Amino acid sequence: MHIRGNLQDGWNAGRLGRLLGPLGYGCAIPRAVLELIGVEYAYTRTPALRGVELHVDAGEVVAVTGPSGCGKSTLLHVAAGILPAQLGVVRLLGYDLTALSEAQRAALRRRDVGVVLQFGQLVPDLAAVENVALPLLLDGWARGRALRAAAGWLDRVGIGQERDTLAAELSGGESQRVAVARALVTEPEIVFADEPTGSLDQAGGFELLELLVGEAGEGGVAVVIVTHDRDVAARADREVRLLDGRLDMARLTR
Ligand SMILES: Nc1ncnc2c1ncn2[C@@H]1O[C@H](COP(=O)(O)OP(=O)(O)OP(=O)(O)O)[C@@H](O)[C@H]1O
Ligand SMILES: [Mg+2]
Repeated sequence: MHIRGNLQDGWNAGRLGRLLGPLGYGCAIPRAVLELIGVEYAYTRTPALRGVELHVDAGEVVAVTGPSGCGKSTLLHVAAGILPAQLGVVRLLGYDLTALSEAQRAALRRRDVGVVLQFGQLVPDLAAVENVALPLLLDGWARGRALRAAAGWLDRVGIGQERDTLAAELSGGESQRVAVARALVTEPEIVFADEPTGSLDQAGGFELLELLVGEAGEGGVAVVIVTHDRDVAARADREVRLLDGRLDMARLTR
């Protein structure tokens, strides 16, 4: 399979689909950007995800909540194609992820998906602006153009003044903003964010959502955000709660 051609077709179909609707007739039927059907994942013999079903429409903001260890990060990694589902179907932007190789999933993520991970998200010995430019550089952009686009996003998320600071020397909140800029720089159709815990206070987590939803909302980008914060969950269009790797049906809001 010719990966660039195929993914490029998908990219075009995605943006066209957003304009035209699934049948291409300009109708307002919401288009699913993410579908999980009967998804299972186990690191060990104990499953971390058990039969998870999730459907996210274009432009929707979905909060994933639940106690520590219930499978939130695993769900995010499987949905974004970082971990392969062991059972079930994951359809991301129209692609069945189980049919793609690891390299193809990585290419799809680089181009049309933004990811903000819970741990170790930046390259410590690169400057903030280089971290943001990374997905563009990996996608073949000329360095100058990529750095200009990255600097623009740093301005948008409010830390343009830190563009040349090494990631290792940024505070937790600043790192979070750089990670958001990096997730949005490719103008993705969907962003996955795992709210950083530990070093960041509650306000930090809320700020991340505000930033993401504010920036993503303008372009109709879907956001799936893992959070422990009730206020953050309340701001989302919908909350999906996990318990022991299963969806808590009692807490489904739709
Ligand atoms: N790399 C791994 N190897 C083995 N088990 C793992 C691994 N990562 C996670 N697990 C286990 O899988 C389950 C789900 O973990 P996951 O990280 O998805 O939880 P979480 O809901 O994101 O938790 P937290 O809120 O603490 O971040 C837990 O029981 C965890 O111990
Ligand atoms: Mg987690």
